[in-house]
Amino acid sequence: VVYVAVTLVSVLLFHSMMMNALDHELQIFAASFGRAIDVSGSVPYFRDWARTVKTEPGKSLVTIQLYDVNERLLESYGPKGYERIMPDLSTVKFDGKTMRVRTTDLRKDQRVVGYMQLELSTERVEDATRQFGWTIILTAPFVLIGLALTAIVVSAQVARPFLDYMHMLRRFIADAGHELNTPLSIVQARMQSISAKMERQGQSTDELVPVEHSLERMGKIVNDLMLLTEVEGPLTARPARTEVDLNDMVSQAVNDYKAQFADKGIALDYDPSPARLQGYQDALSRLLTNLLDNALKYTETGGRVHVQLKAAEKNVVLVVEDTGIGIPADSLPKIFDRFYRVDKSRSRASGGIGLGLSIVKAIAEAHKGTVSVQSTVGHGTKFTVSLPAA
Ligand SMILES: Nc1ncnc2c1ncn2[C@@H]1O[C@H](COP(=O)(O)OP(=O)(O)O)[C@@H](O)[C@H]1O
Ligand SMILES: [Mg+2]
Repeated sequence: VVYVAVTLVSVLLFHSMMMNALDHELQIFAASFGRAIDVSGSVPYFRDWARTVKTEPGKSLVTIQLYDVNERLLESYGPKGYERIMPDLSTVKFDGKTMRVRTTDLRKDQRVVGYMQLELSTERVEDATRQFGWTIILTAPFVLIGLALTAIVVSAQVARPFLDYMHMLRRFIADAGHELNTPLSIVQARMQSISAKMERQGQSTDELVPVEHSLERMGKIVNDLMLLTEVEGPLTARPARTEVDLNDMVSQAVNDYKAQFADKGIALDYDPSPARLQGYQDALSRLLTNLLDNALKYTETGGRVHVQLKAAEKNVVLVVEDTGIGIPADSLPKIFDRFYRVDKSRSRASGGIGLGLSIVKAIAEAHKGTVSVQSTVGHGTKFTVSLPAA
């Protein structure tokens, strides 16, 4: 766009510069011919010496006309011009030509005794402008390719530090996840055996319960970290897609969650409906549990969560709708970002670190699908996951 604009402006500029040059030329002609005109008689006329120079056939581009005070044409030289007196500097069209016209008064002792009119065709200006325009148009592809290549090289240079940084961050998240996973499993296993031992010896394990809960929470977070980088990484390294019975999967998940929802006094329902697709079973089941986890966490007692499956010709659509606290409009675009939570203090108490939905999104995208959200604060939230069936 900028290039086209610059081109247009430069063509216009070029044209007006050429027109200025033409006017300047007319001015110089007027000054020199003025000296060749005799104004001492009743009407102006060209001196003899000038007449021979000016009338050389085919040589002169300029039309020279002499008029008397009554605007009657007396003499005319050069190409045929427009034979009518015009205001001092004007443009006139006739015979399919465009002429630039300059008229000067011829004076004898301050008294006007006639007029000299000079005319030049603007053809040369038009030709030159056209040539200039074509040159620009024909060189445009080369210029644009050059610009594009430069832009690519420069932006790659500029983006490199950011990409390196992103890569480093991703590596760090993956490494931290893996490094934490092993010691955590060891601590968890030891805790279990200590707790079992204490129970055998008749000791109370009440004090260990919060520790076990914290370990469980840490385990979830570490899992999320590892999963996220894994899902985002090259999926080709993962096992091949298999046929997934989504109806089966949702029924089972809803069954598993029934008790937790009932404990909190929330109704959870699902009407079975057949839906199948080619995909990664584990990942899809993770996607579902993340959405159910959120519905459970962010819906208050007395609420209702509705799960739906819709199989269309090309897509399978999973809907998880709750009557929970909702998400403010300004947070909606950010909830799929890693580590984003609407209300940090509230969410921490309920155990998330803001990775759940970014995993949902990554999994949907790994299936070439999409995830969207609609929400009204105080009324509820609806997540819609659409996955291609084939
Ligand atoms: N069903 C929902 N109702 C209301 N808010 C939700 C819902 N699901 C997600 N959110 C908001 O989006 C944020 C991001 O969700 P998520 O990525 O799963 O992280 P978290 O670990 O906090 O659950 C949550 O902290 C919460 O504020
Ligand atoms: Mg969550």
